[in-house]
Amino acid sequence: MKKWAVFLCLGLLAILLFLTACRPAATPDRVETQPPATSPAVDDIQPTATRPAATPTAIPSPTPTPQPTLAPPAVPLDRIAQGRRLGRGVNLGNALEAPKEGEWGMVLQEEYFRLIAEAGFDTIRVPIRWSTHALEEPPYTVDEDFFQRVDWVIENGLANGLNVVINMHHYEEIFEKPSAHAERFIAIWEQIATRYEDMPDSVYFEPLNEPHGQLTQDKWMRILGDTILAIRRIDNRHTLIVTGAEWGGYRGLQSLRLPEGEENYVCTFHSYEPMLFTHQGATWSGTGYQTLGVTWPGPPATPVTMDPEAAKVSWVFSWFRQYNTYPYETNPAGPKPIRDAFDRAVRAAEQQGCALWLGEFGAFEQADMQSRINWTRFVREEAEARGMSWAYWEFGSGFGVYDRAAEQWHEGLLKALIPDVSQR
Ligand code: GLC
Repeated sequence: MKKWAVFLCLGLLAILLFLTACRPAATPDRVETQPPATSPAVDDIQPTATRPAATPTAIPSPTPTPQPTLAPPAVPLDRIAQGRRLGRGVNLGNALEAPKEGEWGMVLQEEYFRLIAEAGFDTIRVPIRWSTHALEEPPYTVDEDFFQRVDWVIENGLANGLNVVINMHHYEEIFEKPSAHAERFIAIWEQIATRYEDMPDSVYFEPLNEPHGQLTQDKWMRILGDTILAIRRIDNRHTLIVTGAEWGGYRGLQSLRLPEGEENYVCTFHSYEPMLFTHQGATWSGTGYQTLGVTWPGPPATPVTMDPEAAKVSWVFSWFRQYNTYPYETNPAGPKPIRDAFDRAVRAAEQQGCALWLGEFGAFEQADMQSRINWTRFVREEAEARGMSWAYWEFGSGFGVYDRAAEQWHEGLLKALIPDVSQR
């Protein structure tokens, strides 16, 4: 073969080899994209990089980061109906909110629940001092015996057809050092929610009685928000009862802030207006409350002489001047301060969209019985005229509607609260 022909053959061979090397690899896609004998369920098809762009909807979107909002309960409760349901109630005061039950002269008895239900009450509010029955350090475990005592109260309330409001009362340390006690406060509520999550809807949780002191509205709204989120992670069904700072008066209701999505709550406030009538002679009220003989309504038939110590307190001095002289309509122990406060509370609740529960009102035993009856009837009627449910403070101690020594109701007081039930 001629030399040039050899080069030509080698050249052609090289070109042939080059073209073979540049050929794409075998096209397995074609084979793999053939439908299998049994098609996978649509959900099993994993998105791949080669998936045609025409089907982007099959690519799942990334899992969103969970938000601290609330999942709706299986059967959402109507919060307005839950507020109305509380109806007419009474506080089981001075028992479980004493440092230890019995220390304040009141030990709850089984018969009280029946008496309360038969008298026509719908609800018991149970003030409870959890803070003296829980560990000081994490995990802040609540004493089992104490829990069993609260179980017993709830069971007896329910067995008598009563709604039961479980609260947290007299957590004194949180009023002094809110931040230092927030974690413990929430941990106690987590235990309460866990223990009672299976209870019926007629059990309510009230996070804190009368926030005050260093627990300002701002701090309280933050702690309350965290508490609600913690409770809702455990129990998304029971109705909560919420209040503002400044001793749970109507003012705190005006700037309530609850976690987004929280719908199942009732608003509450307390009213002891005027304090110089309802708390006359109450040792725990401080200077200014020593003057006895304050009647309701004012003005009194003969002017009341102030206790000399109380007269040194300027606001007390001017209150008594008005009380002794102003006519009924404008008297500080008359209808106006009560109506004004109630109207403001109603406005605040309307803005918030919640039902309103007057969770405490009452007049101490140092006032004369007729004045206590007059005041109690007036407050109860004004509350009901505005669609509020209420709970009288309290069952059988210093403000008591029931006389435990005589084993009978203070008939006049009871009628002032429940005028239309004859069965006693
Ligand atoms: C508040 C207090 C309670 C007191 C009542 C009447 O609820 O917490 O202890 O007896 O008001 O003063």
